[in-house]
Amino acid sequence: MEWLNGFIRNEIKELQPYEVADITCRVKLDAHENPYSLPVFIQKKIEQACSELAFNRYPDPYAHILRKNLSIKLSVSPEMIMMGNGSDELILYLLLCFGPKRVIFPLPTFSMYDILARITLSTAIGIPLDDGFEINEDKIIDEAKKEKEEKKKPAIIFLSYPNNPTGNCFSRKRIEKIIGQTDALVVLDEAYYEFSKETFLPLVYECERIVVLRTFSKAFGLAGLRVGYMIAQPQVINEVRKVKLPYNLNAFSQGSASLCIENAPLFLPIVQGIMDEQKRISDTLDTIYGIKAYPSKANFILFKIAENICAKDVFNSLINEGILIRYLGDMPGLNNCLRVTVGRPEENNEFLQAMQRIMGKEAVSPLNSP
Ligand SMILES: Cc1ncc(COP(=O)(O)O)c(C=O)c1O
Repeated sequence: MEWLNGFIRNEIKELQPYEVADITCRVKLDAHENPYSLPVFIQKKIEQACSELAFNRYPDPYAHILRKNLSIKLSVSPEMIMMGNGSDELILYLLLCFGPKRVIFPLPTFSMYDILARITLSTAIGIPLDDGFEINEDKIIDEAKKEKEEKKKPAIIFLSYPNNPTGNCFSRKRIEKIIGQTDALVVLDEAYYEFSKETFLPLVYECERIVVLRTFSKAFGLAGLRVGYMIAQPQVINEVRKVKLPYNLNAFSQGSASLCIENAPLFLPIVQGIMDEQKRISDTLDTIYGIKAYPSKANFILFKIAENICAKDVFNSLINEGILIRYLGDMPGLNNCLRVTVGRPEENNEFLQAMQRIMGKEAVSPLNSP
């Protein structure tokens, strides 16, 4: 190991690889995925397109057709759109292009902002959310101003909107204050936009420092194909293009995402069904002894287990029943919390029944009675 140590940057030595639970469960409700496969009509179209695909050729580096379809759908010009191999890749590109600098984000939030900021030699600064999971806009503004004073450079601010893992959309007023009182690049990560229907997209035209990120991994059910996109003013896109790998998005993914966008109305009932189930899960969780579900505008729900019951034990009991959700108790501000992704109604029933059983047992245990 001695010889290897000499090669590794200090920031990398300190990092832990991003861990995904390596557990196979019958009911998978851990990763904000869409529980349904694609509508049959789109599947058939993809199969047909696949049979005509030139596998021997590199994919279109500009993703012309996909960007054009998106531009029509979003009413923005194609020059304002860049495709990524998942929006993760676009977060990396933004940091490679505009960093290293102070990269500010609320805590808890999507962990890739922190990881990618460190990898790209930026200073990652997490600002704790308040008890209602709202951002502390004044602290964020202060940190952004420090970058200006010390380095004479604008900072980068990432806001997940709605926030993963808390599920809420931060106050628009507070976000607008951040935009107005700093000269930072403000990245609004709208990975769950199709569920929340709340967006900052119109502001991209008004302010060149705003970037909106979206993904096909959630509502469009293409997590396995890795397709994300970024919307920003053309001069921003042109700079980020300098760090983009030429063939970052493979031809199959481009074609499939294009067909999804062309047939976007087919996803509306799916999204509505998921949000109806989200409400049902949330309401039912709230009726279970020792659980508090937090309001969510996305396809997942954060919930807290009463302090006298160990959330990790509840998580493990669910695994024993073949149900995988996410344990978040080790994240700052999420003591004894778990997060469940909305699945198909029968999966959600299994989860809720298991929770009732597990929490029922905890409730009657003399050791755990409140
Ligand atoms: C807020 C947020 N942004 C981005 C991503 C990553 O999306 P993608 O699959 O497009 O890389 C996620 C995934 O969970 C997320 O929660």
